[in-house]
Amino acid sequence: MKSQQELLNLFLNELKKEQKKIDESSPKGLYKPVSYTLDMGGKRLRPLLVLMAANLFADITEQALPAATAIEVFHNFTLLHDDLMDNASVRRGKPTVHLKFNPNTAILSGDAMLILAYEYLAQSSSDSLPELLKLFSRTALEVCEGQQFDMDFESRQDVTVDEYIEMIRLKTAVLIAAALKLGAIIGGAPEKQAKLLYDFGINIGLAFQLQDDWLDVYGDPNVFGKKIGGDILSNKKTFLLLKTMEKLQGEKKEQLQNWITKEAFLPEEKIEAVTQLYNDALVNEEAQKLMRHYHNEALKCLADLDVAEINKKDLVELADQVMSRIS
Ligand code: IPE
Ligand code: IPE
Ligand code: MG
Ligand code: MG
Ligand code: MG
Repeated sequence: MKSQQELLNLFLNELKKEQKKIDESSPKGLYKPVSYTLDMGGKRLRPLLVLMAANLFADITEQALPAATAIEVFHNFTLLHDDLMDNASVRRGKPTVHLKFNPNTAILSGDAMLILAYEYLAQSSSDSLPELLKLFSRTALEVCEGQQFDMDFESRQDVTVDEYIEMIRLKTAVLIAAALKLGAIIGGAPEKQAKLLYDFGINIGLAFQLQDDWLDVYGDPNVFGKKIGGDILSNKKTFLLLKTMEKLQGEKKEQLQNWITKEAFLPEEKIEAVTQLYNDALVNEEAQKLMRHYHNEALKCLADLDVAEINKKDLVELADQVMSRIS
């Protein structure tokens, strides 16, 4: 079985080739932002999961490369639109597409990436293609649903933790889960095994987004590659905010309510004040506890997976990496 590093290198070689073709396509106004985005790095978690899952069942990395490319290009498309929707100025340490180019570019180049993603997926072997397309399309629609909930929640004050979990399941976890299941299908896994990997991915994905929300407040911007405090400024209903609201009483609770309904404020002042309220409510521990819960659930899915224990090692390691990631 190939190592994580070998799989990552195979993917990066493939992506470089595709990116070069895109970079040379015209009109430049459409394709330059695509290659700018694909070239700016990122962890490449999702394509790696496609390849790792396929490799659990067969030694067939080549056949899984189109799906791996598809999922990474799709993920990058979501980032273009997400940054526009979230009003984010920095991604992977670089200016976001809607600022470096313009908002229309973020929309249209993003659309082109979504279509490119389907073109890559369609290069997969014809016998598994109907199943891959069905999963990919369902997942893409769910990501849109999650993104809409995320936006709707900005102006709602009665969001529950359960609603938050469902929202992050849709906007983030299903794509991570689908990456694993696409790989499993390509590797010829039995349905039950593919489903276990999908469920592993959902749990890892929930922990992943909880950590993302935590890093948005407490991360190091130079490593995280995004501006700190963006979620606070746009009143995102993260677990940190919901739990703080639940735990604080009296004057401090009122202060938090004021910050999230205030129309005019100095950004730095709001970030500092809300972060202080999170600290006061000790929500950090609650968030860590919930992440550990999903991490454990993920490991249970892996334990049930019917492949040699030694071959599960890389996925266990990857789950650990998600828990402690700083970028
Ligand atoms: C960012 O995903 C979007 C979220 C779901 C939080 P990643 O953290 O995987 O982004 P890159 O691809 O590594 O930059
Ligand atoms: C990510 O949510 C969800 C998608 C991109 C679909 P965030 O808005 O938290 O992601 P970042 O923090 O901008 O990467
Ligand atoms: Mg965002
Ligand atoms: Mg967002
Ligand atoms: Mg975020």
